[in-house]
Amino acid sequence: MTIPAQLIQKLRAAQRVTVLTGAGVSAESGVPTFRDAQTGLWAKFKPEELATPRAFRQNPKLVWEWYAWRRQLVADVKPNPAHLALVELAERFPEFQLITQNVDGLHQRVGSRNVIELHGNITRTKCFEENTIVTEWPDRGDIPPKCPRCGGLLRPDVVWFEEALPEVEMDLATRASISCDVFLSIGTSSLVYPAAGLPIAAMRRGATLVEINPQPTPLTAQAQFVLSGPAGVVLPELVKHLRS
Ligand code: OAD
Repeated sequence: MTIPAQLIQKLRAAQRVTVLTGAGVSAESGVPTFRDAQTGLWAKFKPEELATPRAFRQNPKLVWEWYAWRRQLVADVKPNPAHLALVELAERFPEFQLITQNVDGLHQRVGSRNVIELHGNITRTKCFEENTIVTEWPDRGDIPPKCPRCGGLLRPDVVWFEEALPEVEMDLATRASISCDVFLSIGTSSLVYPAAGLPIAAMRRGATLVEINPQPTPLTAQAQFVLSGPAGVVLPELVKHLRS
């Protein structure tokens, strides 16, 4: 993997760097992406059958169990060299902001700090009725379990289709995007808005746009630098160049 010398120069001169990650960054840990035709999470189910408030109202048991399966999968995997490289990358700039669409918490597990989670976190649970985080509940064998305060159903604290993104997080992510010198979009299909609008907003404000992805996306044509390869290979290589 060759890293363009101009990109290294841009990064060496950068004061503020913002990174947006998607499911591709966790792919090499063994977490399936969403849209891979064979192995993607949506290959067996339609997203609207599992990841919408309507689906949860209609079949809360199915939705809870699907997320329980994913929670276990995430608990069993390890962060990969891409997650590790992002921890080191953060140390190289006066200002660095990591934004993720991933709900697996792998960035934080390996030591990334101040991560903006745009789509929530699968390890947290909230009340479907009250929208408040719930950390403990009595195990009465109910699936899904019930809120100890109001008796409403509990659900994962993730953003579903048809739901708004958390306002504070989206606001912070927008600010970090429109004020950075270099924006890296890594392992995301750039199809799901509003997250997919962040690199565009960064570019319009003059940031250098870098994409890391083995496949082209709708963002590819607009990026100044396209590093076509798996994040677990490309990112460690990028960090190595910045070290020397
Ligand atoms: P997708 O499944 O849409 O896209 C994953 C991207 O990762 C694709 O562009 C792949 O080419 C790329 N990829 C695969 N392996 C890779 C690797 N080793 N290194 C780098 N890139 C790799 O996942 P997201 O873009 O994260 O939202 O999807 C965005 C949102 O759509 C998700 O957060 C989720 C989903 O619906 C919600 O659930 C709200």
